[in-house]
Amino acid sequence: MRIASIIGALTGLLGLGSAASFSNPLKATNGSDPFMVYSDGYYYLMTTTWTNLQITRAKTLEGLKNGETKVVWTDTNSARCCNVWGPSFIRLTTRAWYIYYTAGNGNNLDGQRPHVLKPTNDWGIDGTVLRVANKNYFVWSCFPEANMQSLCIAPMNSPTSIGTRSVLSRPTNSWEQVGSPPSVNEGAAPLYHYGRVFLAYGASFCWTSSYQVGLLTYNGGDPTKSSSWTKTGPFFSSANRNYGPGHNAFFNSPDGKEVWNVYHATWIQPGACDGNRYTAAQKVNWRSDGTADFGQPQPTGTVLVGPSGE
Ligand SMILES: *[C@@H]1O[C@H](CO)[C@@H](O)[C@H](O)[C@H]1NC(C)=O
Repeated sequence: MRIASIIGALTGLLGLGSAASFSNPLKATNGSDPFMVYSDGYYYLMTTTWTNLQITRAKTLEGLKNGETKVVWTDTNSARCCNVWGPSFIRLTTRAWYIYYTAGNGNNLDGQRPHVLKPTNDWGIDGTVLRVANKNYFVWSCFPEANMQSLCIAPMNSPTSIGTRSVLSRPTNSWEQVGSPPSVNEGAAPLYHYGRVFLAYGASFCWTSSYQVGLLTYNGGDPTKSSSWTKTGPFFSSANRNYGPGHNAFFNSPDGKEVWNVYHATWIQPGACDGNRYTAAQKVNWRSDGTADFGQPQPTGTVLVGPSGE
């Protein structure tokens, strides 16, 4: 055995140096509503500045800080130019990726609609695609009643059309009602682990320090029925000077073995809904009963072990 391979084996055994390290934040300002995918050797981080959507790509999480950044969407149409929020993207056919995002006019928030899709001409934000048993479902934040910003779901007929809408989750717990009206469920993020399906989402108002993550666990049956899901939370709440870490997304490590949480938060107390939020990432741990342990947002600047296979 050569010395280098002995050192390699030792550091591997000790869990040292086997993955690159990184520290948060990954994007210090305008890191709002992050969504991330690892594909073909690169992390693709999408965030919004309110007037455009940006993708930063890099081969490592640390590399995202200085990664190549491109504005991938901006719009002069006054009905959907502004308040661009909550992007997600997914490969739905072998050839095409689709970006789902929210936008409206610049004057008020009543015009907020989900795009690429325009499922109904009702208020809607934060659209994303959930996959259960090889079927696609569109999940977004809707107002089924006044002051109850909820999660809605509909089966997808194609990447750009959906079927009948149902309400999946209403913000009925006190930890979903801080800063109300309105009480808030938004920013749904699908999470998959060994055949289990979860939907994390942002709960309570984003200008409060109680903007945090709730979780729906799928129990089988029709995914469009709220009775097929169990709600628990809150998880991943303000800690260590990271305020308002609600609204996150999940991505896989390069080797596909780990699930990571990409989220936004702010150093400003009690919280912020705007571009004063940074993007950060940390690993999701799993308990022996198969439930996710999101932990607490770690202090920014802490050196963390990067995703496996990086
Ligand atoms: C975010 O981006 C917008 C548009 O480019 C810019 O006007 C704004 O100053 C940025 N916000 C912060 C906090 O850097």
